[in-house]
Amino acid sequence: MSKPVSMQEMVSSRTEAAADDAEIMAKVAAFDTPSVGIFNKDGLGMDPALKHYSRDDADGLHPKASLKPGILPSVLHNIGNTPLVRCSRLAEAEGIKCELLAKCEFFNSGGSVKDRIARRMVEEAERDGRLIPGVSTIIEPTSGNTGIGLALAAAVKGYRCIIVMPMKMSQEKVDVLRGLGAEIVRTPTEAAWNSPESHVTQALRLEKEIPHAVVLDQYSNPNNPLAHYDGTAEELIEQCDGKIDYLVAGAGTGGTISGIARKLKEKVPGIQVVGVDPYGSILAQPAELNETDITGYQIEGIGYDFLPKVLDRTSVDIWRKSKDIDAFNMSRKLIRLEGLLCGGSCGSAMSAAVEFCKTLPADKRVVVVLPDSTRNYMSKFLNDAWMEDNNFIESQFDPELQAEWWFNEPVSNMPQNFPITLNCSISCEGAAKIMAKEDFNQMPVIGDDGQIVGIASEANLMTKMIQKKLKGTDPISGAVYKDFKQVDTTETVGNISRMLDKEHFVLVVSKQRCYTSEGEASEKLTIYSIVTRADVWTFMNSRKSGESTPAE
Ligand SMILES: Cc1ncc(COP(=O)(O)O)c(C=O)c1O
Repeated sequence: MSKPVSMQEMVSSRTEAAADDAEIMAKVAAFDTPSVGIFNKDGLGMDPALKHYSRDDADGLHPKASLKPGILPSVLHNIGNTPLVRCSRLAEAEGIKCELLAKCEFFNSGGSVKDRIARRMVEEAERDGRLIPGVSTIIEPTSGNTGIGLALAAAVKGYRCIIVMPMKMSQEKVDVLRGLGAEIVRTPTEAAWNSPESHVTQALRLEKEIPHAVVLDQYSNPNNPLAHYDGTAEELIEQCDGKIDYLVAGAGTGGTISGIARKLKEKVPGIQVVGVDPYGSILAQPAELNETDITGYQIEGIGYDFLPKVLDRTSVDIWRKSKDIDAFNMSRKLIRLEGLLCGGSCGSAMSAAVEFCKTLPADKRVVVVLPDSTRNYMSKFLNDAWMEDNNFIESQFDPELQAEWWFNEPVSNMPQNFPITLNCSISCEGAAKIMAKEDFNQMPVIGDDGQIVGIASEANLMTKMIQKKLKGTDPISGAVYKDFKQVDTTETVGNISRMLDKEHFVLVVSKQRCYTSEGEASEKLTIYSIVTRADVWTFMNSRKSGESTPAE
């Protein structure tokens, strides 16, 4: 009997085919048509025919907290009615006079604001017959939290669930999803939203291939913003007795901010809505705000390279851009000062809010939405080493170590070893033989243009060949990994020694400007050297005590 093909393998083998599939690519292109916005004032989300739920109906989707029964029928009934917490310690530490409140969405059953939309999208699809428990498969492209919300609903209600998620998203999210029984397909972080490899395209492709599969599509499903319009916003109005001056929230699909903003604008006179978007994303307005050299960001859940249809930018009065470093440090502050065990995008919203609040008088009230939990980022921003590795906090070195002569030397002062590299077209078999001959267990792989493609490791190569994921004749470029430490020639030996606590080697690269035609220059990274622990050790011992220059 042939081995079952995993979802990930199915997707990888179909990526090229997807490029040719006109039907899927047309659906993908439709993701970026904000002019037919779902939640615009006259869009589908505001259609009077759509169902709304009264807060006074205990069996509705958004009942008041006071209507909750003592024993819940399932954990899905513990979604919504999240606490609003005053952040006085943070306000004091930041010199803020106004009242700063946090809407803590990480108390939802699945740990995020997305549980709200997941339950609503599933239950509406059940109502209109699109989803049938035990028959349908739920598929969703997501940055993880909608996936967790859907997987939670799928576990409770009995659906197969497939989550398609970019590689960037944390391992913690993957583990929670697996725990909930979801199948996971990872897609390249750098894939543009409308490319054949993107999470959006892959999800639509799987929907076409798997019988009874449904993509609920948080990007254009009106129940995404409606969950916040009928639920989150009503809760805020009740919790604040109608007094809110500013609402601050990050935007991903835009469902949270658009849904809350629309209701607050209907019921709270004078409310101003502040949207937060990371540098590297294009959601903020005016467009000039988005101009930056930053191409990627580590914050998960907010920002996109297209305009989701559920995002109604007319409901946002002011946009603020956020940087990873400010966001992660603010999340850590929220945890330390307020005991709020929140995630990274909470820091994006809160750091923008804090800057904003500094200009406000004491009688103003600002509500900030905190979308998810620290649980998703235990190995990321909560971890000091991760923060140091990503230059989000200064490395904490022993002062005695820092006083050593070699500590602040640039790595370019170390003797340069001329690394041996592999061309990307060499076969896997050939690469394995070269590594054995040269006695290296990993080697950099270089493209025909001299640029670094990645690192080939003997262990990775062997595993893939044994598992028959690669043939010996396949080019080595298919077996490289890109998750390695890379520094430029000015990096200090001290910092590199710290990196080598965890890495086997650090790749030192130098930049070149390369003219491809007259007047057109591009930047090219080439390998300067590879530094291992043994190299640092030799360098440290190259100068005898009291000498001012390294020993010859
Ligand atoms: C951690 C986190 N923050 C913020 C958001 C943004 O929410 P929305 O998609 O409603 O804009 C998301 C969405 O996935 C998220 O996962």
